[in-house]
Amino acid sequence: MSLMVASVLGYALGSVPFGLLLTKAFGAGDLRSVGSGNIGATNVLRTGRKGLAAATLLLDGGKGAAAVLIARHALGAPADGAEVLALTAGAFALLGHCFPVWLNFRGGKGVATVLGVALGLAWPVGLVCLLAWVGMFKISRISSVGGMSAGVAAPLAALALGHASMAPVLAALALLVLYQHRENIARLRAGTEPKVGAKKAQDA
Ligand code: G3P
Repeated sequence: MSLMVASVLGYALGSVPFGLLLTKAFGAGDLRSVGSGNIGATNVLRTGRKGLAAATLLLDGGKGAAAVLIARHALGAPADGAEVLALTAGAFALLGHCFPVWLNFRGGKGVATVLGVALGLAWPVGLVCLLAWVGMFKISRISSVGGMSAGVAAPLAALALGHASMAPVLAALALLVLYQHRENIARLRAGTEPKVGAKKAQDA
């Protein structure tokens, strides 16, 4: 029963498309017809609204962390069970973000949310993901390179930092993040993935 509650809770939180809601609420149009068409913070940035992009990043990350923390602390499970619930809620939060029922299952790419999930599960693991994201972005100036690096860093950091039990789920989440970036990967291979700040908006 608690597993079901953790799954539904995670999915419900994860499926809130903050980028889309904020840009619509603040008159920045429909994010799905801007830049890459993605509903994440990078694409919000392409509308020129830095504050909304920052808010999207925090809220998309926050919903992942919230799913994990609520499942761990509020569903009344003993310690071992609570970790299973936390992982379940985190995984479903990412599924909700990537495949929200409200948007015909066409959601985001999951970077901010997986960062939030990792921070909620074990903050040092999340911190490594954050560093991988910032570091790879600074080197490449390409958001998707930073984002995919953060996702891939999660299971590796879990293994390296003594959280091996989380690694299989985090590896599955990393694969989902990579899958959601398949168009970015194609553009990277073609050399057409735009750098952040580049003037020309990319095609969807
Ligand atoms: O977090 C999403 C990012 O990795 C890529 O976004 O809009 O450039 O496809 P975008």
